[in-house]
Amino acid sequence: METLRIPADREGIIKAVRILAGGGLVAFPTETVYGLGANALDERAVLSIFSAKGRPADNPLIAHVSGIAQAKEYGEWSPLAQDLAQAFWPGPLTLIVKRRDSMPRQVSAGLDTLALRVPGHGAARALIAACGFPIAAPSANRSGRPSPTTAQHVLADLNGLIPLILDGGPSEVGLESTVADITGGVPLILRPGAVTPEMIAMAVGECKVADSVMRRLAPQEAAPSPGMRHRHYAPRAPLTLVEGEENAVRLRLAELAREEGTWVLALDGLPGMASLPGAHSLGRDAREAAHRLFYLLRQADEEGAKRIYAQGLPRDGLGLAVMNRLARAAGFNILSAGGEVQNVPMERKE
Ligand code: TXA
Ligand code: MG
Repeated sequence: METLRIPADREGIIKAVRILAGGGLVAFPTETVYGLGANALDERAVLSIFSAKGRPADNPLIAHVSGIAQAKEYGEWSPLAQDLAQAFWPGPLTLIVKRRDSMPRQVSAGLDTLALRVPGHGAARALIAACGFPIAAPSANRSGRPSPTTAQHVLADLNGLIPLILDGGPSEVGLESTVADITGGVPLILRPGAVTPEMIAMAVGECKVADSVMRRLAPQEAAPSPGMRHRHYAPRAPLTLVEGEENAVRLRLAELAREEGTWVLALDGLPGMASLPGAHSLGRDAREAAHRLFYLLRQADEEGAKRIYAQGLPRDGLGLAVMNRLARAAGFNILSAGGEVQNVPMERKE
C-alpha cells in the first residue's frame, strides 16, 4: 500500500473522511501527538489499528469526539465528567468513564470503561466534525516506539501500512494527553500530561496520581491502565535517567559524556552542558522538554547514538509527565548521581 502524506487542510480532510468512512485508517495531527484513526463504530476498522501498530490486543484506544454532546452518547456522564470537560476540553485531557453499549467493546479492548477526548487541534476537530462518527485513535507510532510529533515520524513508522497521513506540522505539546480515570468519583491520573494534577485539583478540588506513574509494575500486579504494562517510548539506544542534586548530576553527566557515542539530554539551565560532546538541549523548562523529548529520542536513533543519559526534572507540573515518559523509556533504569544504577523498587501499591 502506498502511503500518501498531504497537508491537513480542507482538501486533505475531505480525503480523510472518505477513507475513514470506508473503513480505512488515517493518521492525523493533534495538539499532543499524531493519532492513527479509524471509525470507532466500525469494529473491523478498529481491529486494523491494532495490526497496523503491532499493538497488544489488551491495550484500549481513545475515542476522539467532537464535544460533550457526543461524549455523552458513548460514555456515562457524571457531574465530575461535566466539570472536567468544561474546564479542559478541547485539550490534552482524556477521561475514563463507563462505556455505553453504543461504543463497540473493541475500542476499549473489551473493558467496560471508555477513554474519551476532544482534541484541541483545529484540523483534528474539523476531521471529527466532518466524519460525524467518533474516531478511535492511539498514537500513530509502531508499538514500543516514541509517539510521533511530526508527520515525518508517522511516515518513518507506518509507511506502506496506512493509506493517508494528514500533515499539520509539529505537535504543540509533544507528549500524549493526561489520562484521568473518573469512575471512582475522584480523578485518578493514570498517565500524566499537559493537564497537570495541580490544574485538575484547582478545577474540581481534588486529584490523585496513580503510584504506577513513576514505578514499574510487579509482574502479577493489576495495571490500572493496560498501557502501563507495556514497554513504551523506547529509543533503540539504552537510556538512563540521572537524578539527584543539581551539581552532582552535572558532574556525573560530564563524566559519562566522555565515552564516544553518548548522548546527553539536559536542560539549558544546567551549567556547562552546552559545551559537552553529545549534549542535546531539552530546552529551558519542562514545557520545552515535553515538546522536544520524543523528537530527540527519535533523532538519537537516526544518528546512531550508542547510549543516552537524561537529566531528571522536578516531578511537578509538566515535569511529572516528562519524567513518566523518561522513566519508561529508560525501562526504569535510574542512576542517582553520586550513587549507582538502581531499579525503582517494585513494592506493591499502598
Ligand atoms: O494524546 C493522546 O492521548 C494521543 C492522541 C492521538 O490523542 N493518543 C494516545 O493514545 O496517546 P494511546 O493509545 O497511545 O494511549 C492511550 C492510553 C493507553 O495507555 C491506554 O492503556 C489508556 O490510554 N486507556 C485507554 N482506554 C482506557 C481505559 N478504558 N482504562 C484505562 N486506560 C485506558
Ligand atoms: Mg501510544
